[in-house]
Amino acid sequence: MLKSEEAIAKINKLSRCAYEAPVVFLVCYNRSKAWVSPFDATDSSGVMDTSIVGTHMMLEATAQGLGSCWVKFFNPQEVAAAFDIPDNLTPSFLLDVGYPLKGTAPNKMHFERRAVKDFAVYR
Ligand SMILES: Cc1cc2nc3c(=O)[nH]c(=O)nc-3n(C[C@H](O)[C@H](O)[C@H](O)COP(=O)(O)O)c2cc1C
Repeated sequence: MLKSEEAIAKINKLSRCAYEAPVVFLVCYNRSKAWVSPFDATDSSGVMDTSIVGTHMMLEATAQGLGSCWVKFFNPQEVAAAFDIPDNLTPSFLLDVGYPLKGTAPNKMHFERRAVKDFAVYR
């Protein structure tokens, strides 16, 4: 969890999407523990696992009256080096957390909904 003044300054230099939030979670997965699929030999389950955790973190933040923003716009190697992340951990995403400014609202696209038929295929 990044929350010291120094860490927050550093992450704002490394990603334009830290938005000066007071707390930024740097969520990583452990490549030496992530399940490797025998079917495609990737460790994509690490991304899936952290995404499930991240979703629950967002829900909990919201339940506590906080706002959060999921961030993928950063260089994982640079961020790992900047925070001395051990080699076996891969940064998956950042989660900015803080109290939303009064008077702010979601982007208007938030309220646009596509029809299920636009993205679901039935067999
Ligand atoms: C995989 C993923 C990556 C994202 N990366 C970023 C990012 O780098 N910077 C950012 O400002 N928001 C990022 N977001 C957040 C989106 O901009 C948006 O706020 C979020 O998906 C909520 O959308 P909604 O308002 O339609 O619910 C990301 C969201 C997802 C799902």
